[in-house]
Amino acid sequence: MRIEIGTESYLKARADGLMIFAGEAWEKDLAEIDKRFKGALIKTLTREKYRGKPGELCVFHTHGMVPAEVIVVAGDSADPFLLRRSAYLACRKARDAGITTLAVKADGATAERGGILAEIAILALYSFDRYKQQQDSRKEIRVVRLLLKRKTRDHEQAIRAGTVLAGAACYTRDLINEPAGVVTPSYLANRAVELKRANRGIACEVRGAGWMKKQGMGGLLGVARGSREEPRFIVLRYRPAKPAKRIAIVGKGITFDSGGLSLKTADQMVSMKCDMSGAATVLGVFSALSHLKPAVEVIGVIPTTENMPGGAAYKPGDILRMMNGKTVEILNTDAEGRLILADALVYAERQKPDWIVDLATLTGACVVALGDNCTGLMGTDEALKKALQDAARGAGERLWELPLLEEYRETLKSDIADIKNANYGRDGGAIKAGLFLREFVSSTPWVHLDIAGPAFMEKEVGFYGKGATGHGVGTLLRLCMNIERK
Ligand code: BES
Ligand code: ZN
Ligand code: ZN
Repeated sequence: MRIEIGTESYLKARADGLMIFAGEAWEKDLAEIDKRFKGALIKTLTREKYRGKPGELCVFHTHGMVPAEVIVVAGDSADPFLLRRSAYLACRKARDAGITTLAVKADGATAERGGILAEIAILALYSFDRYKQQQDSRKEIRVVRLLLKRKTRDHEQAIRAGTVLAGAACYTRDLINEPAGVVTPSYLANRAVELKRANRGIACEVRGAGWMKKQGMGGLLGVARGSREEPRFIVLRYRPAKPAKRIAIVGKGITFDSGGLSLKTADQMVSMKCDMSGAATVLGVFSALSHLKPAVEVIGVIPTTENMPGGAAYKPGDILRMMNGKTVEILNTDAEGRLILADALVYAERQKPDWIVDLATLTGACVVALGDNCTGLMGTDEALKKALQDAARGAGERLWELPLLEEYRETLKSDIADIKNANYGRDGGAIKAGLFLREFVSSTPWVHLDIAGPAFMEKEVGFYGKGATGHGVGTLLRLCMNIERK
């Protein structure tokens, strides 16, 4: 799908579909085009009790009164999240109506709004269909043409940025939606190398088990023992001239989480190809950095392995020694994410970043706490938390802070090792996992994002369809872009 910018009148748009946002003052918004229909458009909407609220939709056939055959009228909102929801639904509706070229009336739009519309159109019209045989008969919108009053530099830039941001999220979605039979640790490593080759200014190192042993990465090596696939440790770097900050982003890369010997049930296991969403988010960010050119240095760190119950698998009762020397007693091999992240966080901190952000589909408990459209945020630094919240607001992504309560720290204690990886009790699981990770960051400002809920959807929610969402890509890229040049 292609995004275009046009300045012709929406009444003359050469497209088979026309999208018009009409909010609470919808009669005013539609007055001009209603003349073409001799009042029939407003009459129809009145009969349908249209009020202009986000989420409301009306499809109207034009019978030649304007060049477009179908008009989709969609509710509007000044709230960017609600606008996204409305635009998402309207784009889906337009696709279902068989539209192939969609013009969007955006004559009053600010640059920011133009950017959001471009971004949402791409996100909404995404589909993962490479394994379906009959692709040709599927309905597909090929062009979305945003009709502006004037084509200013600000509008063009915002729309271009929106296009890149959404493209990065779709890259991430493709990686997550692709089955675990394809996406192995070495597959992720190959994709990282491909990013380096395709993008100027990106460097990439891929490490194997021998190197991990020398580094003392007992967590990653321990989890990897149950799998036939070799683990990989991937490091990506983007470094502009005179960076204003250095940020490390760490992504959990469990390409399939069977639970290991503490095996998951069949129902719990079905969607566990999504357990590399953190890693896919990091790769998605790197797919866009050299296009957006933020003024920050970014180090992407991806520990990746399968979590399988093979004959050599790590066992409950085992004790693993992590890269910073801390020992961990294993009480549940399904709490594997924190083990591979522990090593990755130690590695990340040794790169001397100003900030560390990790993303992980870490706990089912986080989904219980916040539902499926919200990330749990935990961390040690107020400025970083605020910067992430600001970035998330721009992206329309929901982050909610969970407290790293000191009094829960003692639940981590083990009788025979420094700490244990699970059996902390059923309650507060997301927070206790956050406290576990904190043990592996000494003094660098750090935030942990538990994306177990929003990374992958079982049903449509907000502006996400079923399957992988790419949630986190928009926030992280905006975090980078919001930092001012030195
Ligand atoms: N990958 C899972 C968490 C998860 C659950 C992600 C649902 C996405 C959707 C993680 O490795 C896991 O199994 N966590 C356990 C931890 C427990 C054993 C302490 C969990 O949440 O049950
Ligand atoms: Zn697990
Ligand atoms: Zn997992």
